[in-house]
Amino acid sequence: MVVEDGDELGRLGADLVAEAIAARPASSITAATGESPMGLYSVLAARHRSGALDTGALTVFQLDEYLGLVPDDRRSLLGWMRRSFLEPLGIPDSRVVPLLSGGAPERACAVFDAAIEARGRLDVAVLGLGRNGHLGFNEPPSPPRSPTRVVELSADTLKDNARYWGSVAEVPSRAVTMGLRHLLEARRIVLVVSGATKREIVHRALEGPVGPQVPASFLRTAEGDVTVIVDRAAWGDR
Ligand code: F6R
Repeated sequence: MVVEDGDELGRLGADLVAEAIAARPASSITAATGESPMGLYSVLAARHRSGALDTGALTVFQLDEYLGLVPDDRRSLLGWMRRSFLEPLGIPDSRVVPLLSGGAPERACAVFDAAIEARGRLDVAVLGLGRNGHLGFNEPPSPPRSPTRVVELSADTLKDNARYWGSVAEVPSRAVTMGLRHLLEARRIVLVVSGATKREIVHRALEGPVGPQVPASFLRTAEGDVTVIVDRAAWGDR
């Protein structure tokens, strides 16, 4: 659906997430960092504060994280998640499954996938779209059954994320990401896309060929309930 502005995007996205949580209070959920879903999280937080959204039984699975940071680095994506999503929604660390649970990252990824599978599948995934078509840090090319894994970030992603680090050279080049497999199996997926820099990729993802070069294109093959909310700046005037 195409919306006129960020307020509408946040409200509609929050409606979809809140509806899924109301239907299954013990939902497993993953939620992206980045700019696009921040308004949606603020709306959810306001509903939580007013008592309209009970988050007490949720389990949150981390979507992606840089490698090579010291624990508690403010620039970690888990730190960003805490500030923008977990704390405003009253979700304690004990209800969060982090990607890096200790030990070798490759081993932690296998432990993480096993934790999702132990709960069945994700109920809700709130995602943003990279300018190169990534979901989480599933960079092109990513196959649809890809597991949670260690990845090298693409030149596009390093460039896009340089604003948080000062320069491209300072962005960690390796990361871990939840794989497409578990994302695409989610019962409800809400992809939020905002801003003119996403115009080309959103049309490629939704209207171009489906394949690993545009990981988000696989949303068109997902079996769950997928909603893409695109603001006017990203969609254009068609
Ligand atoms: C971040 C993440 C990324 C972003 C994407 C869009 O956790 O998973 O895939 O969602 O890069 O970022 P924004 O919303 O900042 O344009």
